[in-house]
Amino acid sequence: MMTRTRAALHTTTALFALLLPVAALADAPSDAAAAKARAQAVVGKMTADEKVVLTVGIMPMPVIPGIKIPADAVIGAGYVPGVARLGVPALRESDASLGVAWVGGMRHDGATALPSGIAQAATWNPDVLRQGGAMIGSEARAKGFNVLLAGGANLTRDPRNGRTFEYLSEDPLLTGTLVGAAITGIQSNHIISTIKHFALNGQETARKFVDTRIGEAAARESDLLAFEIGIERGHPGSAMCSYNQVNGVHACDSDWLLNTVLKHDWHWDGFVMSDWGAVPGLSTAIHGLDQQSGSQLDPGVFLGKTLEDAAAKDKAVAKHLDEMNTRVLTAIYANGVDKYPATPGGTIDFKADGEVALEAAKQGIVLLKNDGGVLPLAASAKRIVVIGGYAARGVMSGAGSSQVQGTTGPAVSIPVGDGGPFADLMNRTYHASSPLKAIRAMAPSATVTYRDGYELADAVLQAKKADVVIVFATKWATEGLDQADLTLPEGQDALIAAVAAANPHTVVVLETGNPVTMPWLGAVPAVLEAWYPGARGGDAIASVLFGQTNPSGRLPVTFPAGTDQLPRHEIDGYATLEPNFAGDPPTPDTKVSTNYDIEGSDVGYRWFARTGAKPLFPFGYGLSYTSFASSGLKVDGLHASLTVANTGARAGADVAQVYLVSRNGTAKQRLVGFQRVELAAGASSKVDLTIDPRLLADWKDGGWTLPAGDYGFALGDDATHLGAVVNVHFAARHWKD
Ligand code: BGC
Repeated sequence: MMTRTRAALHTTTALFALLLPVAALADAPSDAAAAKARAQAVVGKMTADEKVVLTVGIMPMPVIPGIKIPADAVIGAGYVPGVARLGVPALRESDASLGVAWVGGMRHDGATALPSGIAQAATWNPDVLRQGGAMIGSEARAKGFNVLLAGGANLTRDPRNGRTFEYLSEDPLLTGTLVGAAITGIQSNHIISTIKHFALNGQETARKFVDTRIGEAAARESDLLAFEIGIERGHPGSAMCSYNQVNGVHACDSDWLLNTVLKHDWHWDGFVMSDWGAVPGLSTAIHGLDQQSGSQLDPGVFLGKTLEDAAAKDKAVAKHLDEMNTRVLTAIYANGVDKYPATPGGTIDFKADGEVALEAAKQGIVLLKNDGGVLPLAASAKRIVVIGGYAARGVMSGAGSSQVQGTTGPAVSIPVGDGGPFADLMNRTYHASSPLKAIRAMAPSATVTYRDGYELADAVLQAKKADVVIVFATKWATEGLDQADLTLPEGQDALIAAVAAANPHTVVVLETGNPVTMPWLGAVPAVLEAWYPGARGGDAIASVLFGQTNPSGRLPVTFPAGTDQLPRHEIDGYATLEPNFAGDPPTPDTKVSTNYDIEGSDVGYRWFARTGAKPLFPFGYGLSYTSFASSGLKVDGLHASLTVANTGARAGADVAQVYLVSRNGTAKQRLVGFQRVELAAGASSKVDLTIDPRLLADWKDGGWTLPAGDYGFALGDDATHLGAVVNVHFAARHWKD
């Protein structure tokens, strides 16, 4: 029996249940086999010219030199013409990991921003991801998009990766489960979703040429398994191959990744589109690429006329081309993209969609520390000082292609680029959801003052006069750039330390996309990790601070105590290469490789378990305003059951976590099951989980191998606080995917 002390007020189930019908799900996708048969029939009617229409896309953006934007395109990341004669619709693509992307304001519209991917993952709640996906899909339809570049499923192998905020977690089960739910939500709108970036795309430095070195077993048991689970659960119509190389071959040109793993072993019948500028040549078509995206960014339009000519000369290429078309058409028909056309000019219920973003933010906020029950704040506090983080204006947003902005644009936009071609992407922006305003609304009888934290002495002076200080600390992250370390920038560590020294009632709210180290942790009683909390982030933060929401987020990544605990002390290439959003090599012969065999499949908490390093906060960790006790773990074959009880005085949600901890006496750690459970004060609930046998197995001799023996399982409050071990015997087993 394990107990935890957590305290709070209110549960959000009821509200969330009410939200479910908001994006009413349309008819289920047509039967996959029927879609494929129809696709094959249409391919049979295509002329040679028509066969290379669906295989090439462009970027329909006015900023592209010499571009003539087709009349039926919508400004966004991509456009692939249709074949009107055969009733095949054009594909209009938008980035959509966190909402319909803003593309630098070029479309002159806005969309609802969900919290960052890591924040959504911190909910450990697939329903939140499904609902978020359904919301994004409905907004995308209203703008005329029918393909969404979403489903970021790369594992967090290094928390300094600039896209950590956009991705979900460091664990294959958590990532696969959640990304599958997000894709299901998107595709419920008769829109195709991608899963991306396939695969082993773990850093932004040198992103277009870094060579990820990894053995097959390690890859299959980690990053590939996250994609495999995500594909099984979400059935994405498309997968986007990544920029990087894997073992010396470009991911979009990798016969092993695309033909063998994705299409053959996983029996997946969707189509592979390239990342923008990731296609090295015509060979990609033979090696499993079906569609060349954003072709203006590649050195040539390989999958157009060049492919048509090659197909005319070579029957094997012609067969590949038919297969490519069949796959794109199957995704279109299986999702009803043609039957339910998405047309621009639809209406968007921003109020309802904002509620979806708000709920995701509330469930994703992680209470990291709460000494002496400082939180929730009493509405009776008289003098509150709010310091820093542009909290008067909004909440931070991550940047890059996933950037979403609301209809009024960013509340704050700080240009940080050097004026180069990607200057417009290099803005630190804040969504217009002011925590200060929301705090004032929560504490109407208090005097709430604000200081931006620019002058440390002034912040200290204000802190001394207050009953409670709330310091907002932010760290911006963007696609295209990794981070040098895990410290807070711009002197914020010093600001927090000075304020905490002036007033012991200091609460820190972090808005970061990555884990950060907290040198001042011992000096403050309370810390909330609010991530980039999206369109309604300010309201979500205030709701947790004042206890209207009982925090239930759990860390989806380990927070290291320092970079010396990571498998790589620095990101490969970071120290030597000039940062470059595009990630192109400075000279054709520049080489960077990164060795993932150091940790192999022991990513994140598994690396910490293997090395014995003590993290600042472990994977799976998060406090509550109530207390829970998990008990009675039973494992019967691949079925686990346990009981979760709310032993405190407030309603709240716990996340039951079951870990494999040993095999035949050898320590081994893997998350094998989890479930978020909402419980009224004093209530308890039985949780039943099915264990995926791949999580217990090794990849060996071309398949999954389960050695015979005793497997130890334990309940975990998180990856480091584990309960009594339950041993179960398994017979030897070997199987293919
Ligand atoms: C990103 C993808 C994105 C694409 C289109 C690339 O730079 O890596 O995630 O979907 O651009 O915007």
